[in-house]
Amino acid sequence: MSDGKQAADLLVFGAAEIASPRGSEARGGADLAVLDVIEGGALALADGRIAAVGPEAQVRAAWSAEAELDARGGLVVPGFVDAHTHPVFAGTREEEFEQRVGGASYVDIARAGGGILSSVRGVREASAELLLEDLLARLDRFLALGTTTVEAKTGYGLSGPDEMKCLEVIARADRAHPVDLVPTFLGAHDFPPEYRQDPGAYVDLLCEEMLPRVAESGLAEYCDVFTEDHVFGKEASRRILSRGAELGLGIRMHVDQLTPLGGAELAAELGAVSADHLEFVSERGIEALAGAGVIPVLCPLVPLYLGVEAEAPARLMISAGLAPALATDFNPGSCYTQNMGEVLTWAALRYGLSASEALAAATLNAAVSLGRGATIGSLEGGKRADLALLDVPNHRFLTYEFGRNSVQAVIKGGELVFERR
Ligand code: NIG
Ligand code: FE
Repeated sequence: MSDGKQAADLLVFGAAEIASPRGSEARGGADLAVLDVIEGGALALADGRIAAVGPEAQVRAAWSAEAELDARGGLVVPGFVDAHTHPVFAGTREEEFEQRVGGASYVDIARAGGGILSSVRGVREASAELLLEDLLARLDRFLALGTTTVEAKTGYGLSGPDEMKCLEVIARADRAHPVDLVPTFLGAHDFPPEYRQDPGAYVDLLCEEMLPRVAESGLAEYCDVFTEDHVFGKEASRRILSRGAELGLGIRMHVDQLTPLGGAELAAELGAVSADHLEFVSERGIEALAGAGVIPVLCPLVPLYLGVEAEAPARLMISAGLAPALATDFNPGSCYTQNMGEVLTWAALRYGLSASEALAAATLNAAVSLGRGATIGSLEGGKRADLALLDVPNHRFLTYEFGRNSVQAVIKGGELVFERR
């Protein structure tokens, strides 16, 4: 440019704070709390990436942009990365919520044919078009809540064709919508009705037909299992996930959510990328996760929603050096919310995480758990320009305020994709 400045596409200015963890590796132990906070900061965005971030005067001295966006004295953070969701379903389960509030347990409802199986009926009956339409509407909501990348599990099809239908819907939604989706095959979410009398045959089907077909399609990056005695025990889980890994899929797991089965130890043994839930993890399990570098993905709203007393021992995990990620676990049964802001507050209230720790867990650590630590999860030169603008004065409001969506604008890949005002 003639003024000697470099050209950017968009300059975001007027932020009271730009707050972000730093780096491309997951942050654990004492490092989890280390947050970069730039008061009066600005960002220059070019070609979908962050070209510069720093004090406004410094950024303006070096960059000029065709367009500018005023953060109006608010907070700018990396777009949230939701590392665990089940967003492909048709129909909702509000009657089960009422049953639980009335005293029924999640497992009681599942054993009586409700729970996951009621969503399986919904997905099998729904066309791909309907599933896509519902998923796109949910992605709009994620975006309005400041979430720019979402891990998306299947798991309500539970047959070869129905699981493939869900993976295809995820791929189509990913192409059609600014929110990025990271697909996970969760064919081992429960046993479908037609295999209830012969669960071993479903494990055979998963290993011999479904997983090879999924891997061949290239439509899933990860495979996952709901490891719990009433669904897939440790032996079945080991067999399914070893097969997935052999076929080139990364491993994520639902472990120690409802009972202390030793799922964390199994996740470590299998080299899982993430071990999720962990309300009933043991001290040995925590050591095993730390030894194997597994990321615990914590979902603080789920026990609250299920009316379960147990709590994931997040502080013990952090003391052991682990680098937790946070997630909604958005699904129609055990946690019907897409709101990462709410997750941050409850991570503070239930786990004792500071705002800085909760933000790193909900952005960088979650991104690393999805294999995307080098490209998203923090606001640094070279990373993708995925950011959320909130009308709060500082990063402590991320946990302090709850029950209101303070997200005013969202930028994804350098484009303004959501604006409230
Ligand atoms: O993460 N744990 C298993 N799966 C979900 C619940 C799914 C459902 O109830 O539909 C979870 O809690
Ligand atoms: Fe889940």
